[in-house]
Amino acid sequence: RPGAEKWVPSGADVDRLREAVQGCRGCELWRDATQAVFGDGEAPARMMLVGEQPGDKEDLAGEPFVGPAGRVLAQALDEAGIARDGIYLTNAVKHFRFEQRGKRRIHQRPDAGNIAACRPWLEAEFAAVDPAVVVCLGATAARAVLGRVVKIGAERGTPLESEGRTVVVTIHPSAVLRLRDSSERGAAIAGLVADLRLAAESLR
Ligand code: URA
Ligand code: SF4
Repeated sequence: RPGAEKWVPSGADVDRLREAVQGCRGCELWRDATQAVFGDGEAPARMMLVGEQPGDKEDLAGEPFVGPAGRVLAQALDEAGIARDGIYLTNAVKHFRFEQRGKRRIHQRPDAGNIAACRPWLEAEFAAVDPAVVVCLGATAARAVLGRVVKIGAERGTPLESEGRTVVVTIHPSAVLRLRDSSERGAAIAGLVADLRLAAESLR
């Protein structure tokens, strides 16, 4: 089965990985996307955040979390007292998966095959960034990092462990955007902030 393995240079730092990922043909997602969106931030870093995949804005900009979900994340990091420039931010899948409807590109969840195909890039980032704590933003990230299906509601709130790193799972910031009721939104952001604080505390 295809996968990113043969496009990932071994022992590379994040700058070299970021260059190499543009040539990846490890699954079908490169065909329709504008570009690959690699991780961004400090390397090495003590904290790494993993999202799902780039969205429409990220696909165009070439940077993770620059769209609406990124604004929610920035607010939550701020409230948790975590400086954006001290962390490394990436996604489980590096190309945008979408369905074209007229002029709009509608986000589609990456499937298990995309997650598995793209995992060598995430592993290379783990090696290069060497974080002590990993925050998984949503179920796709948790599945990619922990290698199993994860129910966020059942497993958030307690630090987990994987390959010698602390892993904290939380909701995806775009889940906040789907809520219409402002008190529900407030509660969802508060939960995200609490999980980010838990991750930061594990570093102390
Ligand atoms: N959602 C993600 O999971 N990652 C991004 O980079 C943007 C939106
Ligand atoms: Fe390669 Fe990942 Fe893009 Fe698929 S999504 S082509 S595995 S970088």
